[in-house]
Amino acid sequence: MEWKVRFVDYPSQFRKMEIEIMDTIKMVLSGGDLILRQQLHDFEAHLAAFVGTKYAVGVSNCTDALRLSLQAAGVGPGDEVISVSHTFVATAAAVHHVGATPVLVDVADDHNMNVDLLEQAITPRTKAILPVHLNGRLCNMGQLMAIAGKHKLLVIEDSAQALGASIEGKRGGSFGLAGCFSFYPAKLLGAFGDGGAVVTNNEEIAQKIRLLRDHGRLPDGEVAGWSFNCRLDNLQAALLDLKLKRVPEWIARRRQIVHLYQERLGDIPQLLLPPPPSDGPWFDIYQNYEIEAENRDGLLARLREQGIEVMIQWGGKGVHQFQALGLGHFKLPRTDRLFERVLMLPLHTELADEQLEFVCDIIANFYRSVRPAVGRPLSVKAP
Ligand SMILES: Cc1ncc(COP(=O)(O)O)c(C=O)c1O
Repeated sequence: MEWKVRFVDYPSQFRKMEIEIMDTIKMVLSGGDLILRQQLHDFEAHLAAFVGTKYAVGVSNCTDALRLSLQAAGVGPGDEVISVSHTFVATAAAVHHVGATPVLVDVADDHNMNVDLLEQAITPRTKAILPVHLNGRLCNMGQLMAIAGKHKLLVIEDSAQALGASIEGKRGGSFGLAGCFSFYPAKLLGAFGDGGAVVTNNEEIAQKIRLLRDHGRLPDGEVAGWSFNCRLDNLQAALLDLKLKRVPEWIARRRQIVHLYQERLGDIPQLLLPPPPSDGPWFDIYQNYEIEAENRDGLLARLREQGIEVMIQWGGKGVHQFQALGLGHFKLPRTDRLFERVLMLPLHTELADEQLEFVCDIIANFYRSVRPAVGRPLSVKAP
C-alpha cells in the first residue's frame, strides 16, 4: 500500500541529512575504522554527557544492553526481576536469558508500571526492578527508587523508548544502577540498523559491560571469562554521534506535534490521550503517541483505508499474552484492557502539519459518524 502518512519516514530524514551522513561514512571507511575505534569512544562520551551519567558503553542493541546489565549486576538463576507486560518481549527475554524469573505487574493510566503495585510483588527472591519508560515518558522513578532503596533492590532501567525524557531535569537511564538504550532505526535516535548502549555511574559495571560485549577480552589479550560478541559497530557509532546533536531539536518537534494532536483530538470523548507536553516535573519526549480509543479496531481500519499508517505495539499483545513464554499466570487487567484499546498515531520529526491535520480530520469524522460514547467521558489523568 502507498501510505499518504507514514508511521516513520526513514527516506525523508536521510534526504535532510544526506551530505553529513555520506561525509561521515566516507570519513570512517577511508580511515578503516570499523571495530571499537575512536568514533565509538566519542559517541559514548557524548551519550553519557547527554544522559547525565559518568559512563556509556555502546553495545549491539538494547536487548543485549539489558541482558549484559543484569549479568554485570549479578542477577541470575533463582532471582526474580519485577517488570511489566506492556513492553517489547525483549525486556522479559533479557531476564530469562540470565536465568532469572520475570515477575510482571500491571500498568497505570500513563501506560507505565503502576508503582503502587510494586511492593506486593516483592518476595524474598526479588533481586531487581526493571522499569520500562514507555513511549518516551518516565515511570514514577521517585516512588520506585524509594521502594527499591527500602527493600535493597537493584534498579536497571529499560530506557529504549526514552532518550532525553526526564523528571525534574533528571534523565531516564540515570536513576538506577544502569540504563539501557535502543538505537533501533525507528527510535528517536536511530541507527542504520541495530544498536544499543548501557549508561551507568558505576565504574565496575561499565568495565564489566565493556568486557562482556567483547568476548571477555582484556587489553593484554587474556580472556576474563565466557562471554559474547555484542559490540556496537564503529560506523554506526559515528552516525549516531552525528545524529545525537539533532536530538534536542527532534524532541522539540515531537512535542510540538503532540501539542497539535492534543489541540485537535483533546475534546473527543471516545479517546484517552497521553498526558500533554509539560515542562515539569515530567518532561516527555513522545517516542510514540499511544492513544486509547473506543472502537479501536474500527478506527484503525478507517485510518489505514485512508492511507494513514497506524500501529499497535508488538502486534497487539503484552508479554504475558504470548503463550509460548509461559507467563500467562500473571493477572494484569489494566494491561489486558490496554491491548483492546491502544493505537499509535504517526509521530516522527518529518511529519508535516498538513499530514497531521489530515490524520486528525479522519479521526474526528470517524467519531462523528459513530454512536456517541456511553457513560462518563474519559479524561486524561497524569499520575
Ligand atoms: C521497551 C523496549 N525495550 C527493549 C527494546 C529492545 O531494543 P532492541 O531492538 O534495540 O534490542 C525495545 C525495542 O524496540 C523496546 O521498545
